[in-house]
Amino acid sequence: MTSHEKILVTSALPYANGPLHIGHIAGAYLPADIYVRYQRMMGRDVVHVCGTDEHGVAITIAAEKAKKSPKEFVDFYWAQMNATFAKAGISFDIFSRTTTPEHYPISQEFFLTMHKKDLLVEKAVKQLYCPNDKRFLADRYVEGTCPHCGTPGARGDQCEACGKWIDPLELIDPKCMVCGTRPEIRETKHFFIPLGRFQEQVKAWLDTKKNWRDNVLNFCYGWIKEGLTDRAITRDITWGVPVPLPGYEGKVLYVWFDAPIGYISATQVWAKRLGQPDKWKEYWQNPKTKLVHFIGKDNIVFHAIVWPAMLMAQDGYILPADIPANEFLNLEGRKLSTSRNFAVWLHEYLEKFPPDPLRYTLAANLPEGKDADFSWKDFQTRNNSELADILGNFINRTLTFVKKNYGNRVPAAGTLSERDRRTLEIIKSWPQKLSADYERYEFRRATQDLMDLARHANKYFNDEEPWRTLKMDRKRCDTTIHICLHLCKALAVLMSPTLPFSAARIWKMLNLSGEVEKQNWLTAPAEPLPVNHQLNEPEILFTKIEDETIAPEIARLQEALQRMEQTAQSTVESPQSNPEQSAAAQKPLIPIETFQQLDLRVAEILAVEKVPKADKLLKLSIRVGTEERQLIAGIAQHYQPEELVGKKVVIVANLQPAKIRGIESQGMILAASTEDGKLAIVAPEREIASGAKVK
Ligand code: MF3
Ligand code: ZN
Repeated sequence: MTSHEKILVTSALPYANGPLHIGHIAGAYLPADIYVRYQRMMGRDVVHVCGTDEHGVAITIAAEKAKKSPKEFVDFYWAQMNATFAKAGISFDIFSRTTTPEHYPISQEFFLTMHKKDLLVEKAVKQLYCPNDKRFLADRYVEGTCPHCGTPGARGDQCEACGKWIDPLELIDPKCMVCGTRPEIRETKHFFIPLGRFQEQVKAWLDTKKNWRDNVLNFCYGWIKEGLTDRAITRDITWGVPVPLPGYEGKVLYVWFDAPIGYISATQVWAKRLGQPDKWKEYWQNPKTKLVHFIGKDNIVFHAIVWPAMLMAQDGYILPADIPANEFLNLEGRKLSTSRNFAVWLHEYLEKFPPDPLRYTLAANLPEGKDADFSWKDFQTRNNSELADILGNFINRTLTFVKKNYGNRVPAAGTLSERDRRTLEIIKSWPQKLSADYERYEFRRATQDLMDLARHANKYFNDEEPWRTLKMDRKRCDTTIHICLHLCKALAVLMSPTLPFSAARIWKMLNLSGEVEKQNWLTAPAEPLPVNHQLNEPEILFTKIEDETIAPEIARLQEALQRMEQTAQSTVESPQSNPEQSAAAQKPLIPIETFQQLDLRVAEILAVEKVPKADKLLKLSIRVGTEERQLIAGIAQHYQPEELVGKKVVIVANLQPAKIRGIESQGMILAASTEDGKLAIVAPEREIASGAKVK
């Protein structure tokens, strides 16, 4: 397809400020890993680099919260991520970090080259300063309402809601993140990248990227259309890469300036470990290298506009050839939230389940081009009905048949029937088919195509009925089984990028030498097993996942959701002065039918208890008509148990029950919140029977 000699793959450097979750994996690491494993089997010279992103305010704030030094903090997460990635089978050639001795000089060199070429602008700027903490409030150290879209809680660098960059001076009602003080404005000086000066060059370069994903190109052209502006690349903090110029002591490079350079420093560390310290240049400074950045969509502007501009400003560096950015992965139909623990954490998953079923579920459902959803039910179905019932079943029925009827040795093929020939054609064509998917970064489709091969295999076994021909037509049976074993081998090779652990197990059962992941992608599937070859003992490849196994996972997420809703209840509207306006800004209009799905009822509170060790929660026994129920409400800080007994309130009666602190909650009580976060329970305005409908 291309004349590239080398492929350099990068996966977004994760911030070392929290554990990995499945959203990270689906965004960058899994597709990158599958791509790289495939390219290795194609015999390509490919290097996959990654590492932790350890600078910036995302780190220092999190470290302060954890009462650790930034260094201690990032050390912990580097080690945790390194181990977790390995366990998940994400096969980086190097998992480096942005605090290595290699990283500082190369980052400073990038800066100095731009400075020397007069491609940086120095400006005195007004900036928010916290008089209490006596420091400038860089980036996320300040929070306020987004000047673009009006969302409260926007941080001083970028608004999560609308994605726009924010000038912190324009934040409405700014607050210091650390102490809550309203900051004052002071003057300081900073360096800026004049992105406007790169605009034409960046656009001309993007114009050549006709086959990039639409989501990526559209996003970039959107930015360019608005006009690229100067972007500050230094900060008044001490944690980071020092600005290498006199007069700039105490200032560091902005994290988004040094982080992508981390891809280069990681490659340098990799080259050093190989004992060939200059080898990184064979990739970064070689026009024959295809540089591919795997990222999530929130990183597009940095990788497709700012970073290319930085590379253009250097001498001899290549530019990204492709940026297959993914959209977001939702969880159980909602946006993932790490701070609210509404996430599936990778290290926790791996303590309970094997890696391959998750890799498969995510690969089959990657957010390519549009957001996708992960649910535990879907995970269970993919595991049980696809991995176990189709792929695993085929391998298992073939191998047990061979063990039982052929002394675990490979029979010879005789005369081929039409169906045999067609099956062999399928085996031969499949590597190319999957190659086409992978070269286009279509991992979902590749995953489907892979399972289709297993479907063909199962169908072949069924149609051939070897259990019948065994007695009636032994030669036919031999041929069928020979081809089924050939299919097992082809499947092992072709599933290796997506399901590396299971592929290795099949390889072992087939008693084949070498490693499956080192086989030649195009030729290995086409070669049958040698006749009379002795196999190893067959084992079950995928075990089914029972409802009971995933029930606690679902319950945990529901609990997180309920807690989210309860905190939302105590904080809604308070940041804005006009509640009506903000409500309109926050939620879309709904048709009456949507409202009618709610079963709102008057309920009478019969008894109230405190929930042990939960200072916000009360357990209420209530009566709704003739029915008694219990529910958990986050109102303990606003009401004494005594004052609630006998009160009539309004509840959502058809809310899915959820366990909160192990106690089942069957409904939700309605409450309004005041400006200062106080809660007031909603009550009917005149005496009315419990059970009455609220509409
Ligand atoms: N740490 C960033 C994030 O998690 C990604 C950095 S990618 C790099 O969003 F290119 F800057 F390294
Ligand atoms: Zn916004």
